[in-house]
Amino acid sequence: MPKPRIQFICQACGNVTSRWAGKCEACGEWNTLVEEGTAGGIGSGPSSLRSARKGRAVALTSLSGDIEDAPRIASGISELDRATGGGFVRGSALLVGGDPGIGKSTLLTQAAAALASKGHRIVYVSGEEAVAQIRLRAQRLGVANSSVELAAETNVEDILATIADGRRPDLVILDSIQTLWTDVADSAPGTVTQVRAAAQTLIRYAKSTGAAIVLVGHVTKEGQIAGPRVVEHMVDAVLYFEGEGGHHYRILRTVKNRFGPTDEIGVFEMSDKGLREVSNPSELFLGERHAAAPGAAVFAGMEGTRPVLVEIQALVAPSSLGTPRRAVVGWDGARLAMVLAVLEAHCGVRFGTHDVYLNVAGGYRISEPAADLAVAAALVSSLTGLALPADCVYFGEISLSGAIRPVAHAQQRLKEAEKLGFGQAVLPRGSDEQNGANAGMFQPATLADLVVRIAGSLRRDAED
Ligand code: TYD
Ligand code: MG
Repeated sequence: MPKPRIQFICQACGNVTSRWAGKCEACGEWNTLVEEGTAGGIGSGPSSLRSARKGRAVALTSLSGDIEDAPRIASGISELDRATGGGFVRGSALLVGGDPGIGKSTLLTQAAAALASKGHRIVYVSGEEAVAQIRLRAQRLGVANSSVELAAETNVEDILATIADGRRPDLVILDSIQTLWTDVADSAPGTVTQVRAAAQTLIRYAKSTGAAIVLVGHVTKEGQIAGPRVVEHMVDAVLYFEGEGGHHYRILRTVKNRFGPTDEIGVFEMSDKGLREVSNPSELFLGERHAAAPGAAVFAGMEGTRPVLVEIQALVAPSSLGTPRRAVVGWDGARLAMVLAVLEAHCGVRFGTHDVYLNVAGGYRISEPAADLAVAAALVSSLTGLALPADCVYFGEISLSGAIRPVAHAQQRLKEAEKLGFGQAVLPRGSDEQNGANAGMFQPATLADLVVRIAGSLRRDAED
């Protein structure tokens, strides 16, 4: 009989090695290698027993067969359905990740109740909370009377035996994947081997029965689904539920979707009665706007297919420090440095003796380079003390030469701005061919043109 082999598995990336080391050679993380048994574990390859078995023939079928049910079940919570691409897909596995306490269980309880009220069979399995705790939450959410079936259980085989009883469930929610364990792997719950084995068993269940499953996963401080990055590859879709500390809104972001678009977001607000949908995020992020303060510019951004207007605030103040401060919240610090450099080099605007603070209102986070132009406008406005027109939006990417480059979806950005009462826009040239320039639009070729225009408003004011 062969000696049982010892192996070490990286809890961050799932890499397997035969020797322990302080640092994982695959992903470079420190102290992530954990000894896990190989007997029957996932990834140990086909055992001699299995390879001796003669294969069973499966029936081959055509692409154009009947599909017994509608392939999607929509929850009716439109922000959630938008993020999933139109509802939960039957026979698929969805991973919902997020920091502890962000509201994953709340969201899924609400979704479960909404689906159950439409006559679907929904099973909610919690490995973290007792049934009484889940009931308390349901009471708070006002959904205690819904027909969601509850269980507090962590063993995968027991869970599958439980739900095999009666009608096939339409949706099974497993909260959370880190607490589950299966008999086929002999590592501790929460380790890569267990999480992967449990997820695999559940995904196989979903595919073979046509039930949709939702796996909840916690995210580590570093922003990874704790331990099992591996699960991301196995499931059909991954949603991240995120929010900024101190703000009550939450964003459900699609990072992977085999059945729909990625980069979609759903926006929610956490209230005392659970999550409330925010169908117009721009209004939320522009809510506390004071018109005509120097240093504020409205950026017309895009989140997936949806335009979102956010206010960018800059404060440029004389510095008493040898090396002035640059602080950024909600945007990339390196991009701010680049915009400052372009303003200095090509527009003659000097920030060398000033502290610069940049903030995106509402705790929102922007990753688009299209925000460059809005940032530059806010910086110049704050430095000169000249308020920008209150009804103007900005978008466009700035290149190092000072030219303003076109960005995608100009039409949609403009439409959203118009809908919210913005009459003017500063945008790149030729960002949309069919788009005839209208009266309220200014399309500078270079950043210097924009600076001249902002500074020009001072001259115009003086002439009046
Ligand atoms: P929860 O869904 O338990 O988070 P997760 O499952 O992601 O760990 O949400 C916990 C937080 O949400 C908790 O801090 C309390 C808050 N909350 C509300 O503000 N209102 C509510 O109606 C509910 C149910 C929770
Ligand atoms: Mg929870």
